[in-house]
Amino acid sequence: MSRKIEKWAAGRTERGMLTLYFKELDSTNDFAMELSESCPHGTVVIADTQKKGKGRMGRRWESPDEDNIYMSVLLKPGVKPKDITLLTLAGAVAAAKAIKKLTGVGVRIKWPNDLMASGKKLGGILLESRSSAKSFFAVMGMGINVNAAPSEMNAVSIKAETGAKTDRIPLIEGILDGLEAELETLRKDRSRILTRWRRLSSTLGREVRVTTRKEVFSGMAEDIDEDGRLIVRMPDGQVRAISSGDVMELR
Ligand code: BTN
Repeated sequence: MSRKIEKWAAGRTERGMLTLYFKELDSTNDFAMELSESCPHGTVVIADTQKKGKGRMGRRWESPDEDNIYMSVLLKPGVKPKDITLLTLAGAVAAAKAIKKLTGVGVRIKWPNDLMASGKKLGGILLESRSSAKSFFAVMGMGINVNAAPSEMNAVSIKAETGAKTDRIPLIEGILDGLEAELETLRKDRSRILTRWRRLSSTLGREVRVTTRKEVFSGMAEDIDEDGRLIVRMPDGQVRAISSGDVMELR
């Protein structure tokens, strides 16, 4: 039997995903990783606040206890290491669509998975994976500024966009339902995820500065390839496919 999420209880979403709520955790991603052996695919860990919230590229994710979304989803069967980037794109598409549908806020996606509103960061996704001889699984962590005023200048919240407080619970349910649906689509026809991502992208067709762990360079963001890598054309005509890094949209 599926039922609606109730605060601070374990429950199930409409699509049967197991949800675990906490007042405070160090990081929902770390906790979901710890559960990975014992919990099924689709287990969701949600916290009101995180003491050691993690962002991409080793950054910290500020996690004030003011009605934002901090959640992580355990993804097990059907996940292949080469699909990691596509998974994050599917997560970003699910979140962008649910936010638009439930709050009216138009969200664009900055490659690979920054959720942007009015040109500022509304949320982000951190995908972490582990493999052993027997299995491969991933944890998809989502942080969304819902009601707290972000401390950073280039960040924004849903409340700042709409002027009203948003109830997190229906939004979480909408994102999780959307995520299940996008993952099903990904399993059947990955090209449809790419098409949906392209439609929501703020990055394609823009000049970008890319920072990877090894280098920084600029070029034109032309497209994403079938694995979700960003295709950047350099001023000398050379084309690069980027699988991880930070993108700044210049023009
Ligand atoms: C980014 O840097 O854009 C990704 C941010 C991801 C933050 C979320 S909050 C829930 C989950 N737990 C974490 O420690 N990080 C992710």
